[in-house]
Amino acid sequence: MGRPARKQNGVSSALPILETRDLSKSFAGYCAVDGVSLSIAPGTIHAIIGPNGAGKTTLFNLLSGFVVPTSGSVAFEGRDITGLAPHKIARRGIVRSFQINSIFPHLTVLDNVKVSLESKTELPSRFWLPGSATNRLDERALELLADVGLEPEKDLLAAQLSYGRKRALELAISLAQDPALLLLDEPTAGMGPQDVGRITQLIGRIRAGRTIVLVEHNLNVVADLSDCITVLQRGKVLVEGTYADVRRDPRVIDAYLGGGAGSHA
Ligand SMILES: Nc1ncnc2c1ncn2[C@@H]1O[C@H](COP(=O)(O)OP(=O)(O)O)[C@@H](O)[C@H]1O
Ligand SMILES: [Mg+2]
Repeated sequence: MGRPARKQNGVSSALPILETRDLSKSFAGYCAVDGVSLSIAPGTIHAIIGPNGAGKTTLFNLLSGFVVPTSGSVAFEGRDITGLAPHKIARRGIVRSFQINSIFPHLTVLDNVKVSLESKTELPSRFWLPGSATNRLDERALELLADVGLEPEKDLLAAQLSYGRKRALELAISLAQDPALLLLDEPTAGMGPQDVGRITQLIGRIRAGRTIVLVEHNLNVVADLSDCITVLQRGKVLVEGTYADVRRDPRVIDAYLGGGAGSHA
């Protein structure tokens, strides 16, 4: 830290918030992530795209500590975090949302967010006490619910929410951890067009003051949100750049048409 941010072509080139060097993960000899070097600029939305099986989720597992790399390193805010346990990485400020079910179905929407706020206060062994003992968390929880458009549903049980609204709740639960870096794995998966539009707008709103890495199949969403895109293929970085750069790269067109993921925009 401490070095001044420079500007090149209008894009901030501040020190990366997250950097991987030659990151690799093999499963029984199969290299799912193969020598990936990424540099994520602070305050940006950085999308990771690529055909099914390209290694996107494994990459997220490496960044969040759920999988230990075979080789290579991960640095967050200039400090090495390679091989740290998931809860330690989360405490440093990297929080992952979606594809991990963080919702308690039998608590209300509001209490789900309060549980997450409570865990952030680093008293994880305390029993959760619904009601007055935690009223001090109400204000912040209601703000977060307002951010994701869930305030009207605050008293419903989480189990009563529609699929799209559950994903908005997952986002509020993740934001309650106040992450510097938010990892979103396929936030629009399984959603109809209306919910896709809502969640895209939502991600655009909650990006303020944080960095987001997004795995997303819907290229319209990627085009709307991303400052930078990394295309993975068979575990390796194929191409990196803006949406305009990436979409006209013949290698990307090949990878998508050849990879069975060509049904989007
Ligand atoms: N735990 C695991 N054990 C063995 N193989 C795995 C494991 N996780 C992922 N893989 C393999 O790694 C490759 C990349 O998978 P994944 O990261 O899920 O791709 P993506 O998210 O891009 O679809 C796939 O071939 C998958 O079968
Ligand atoms: Mg995946």
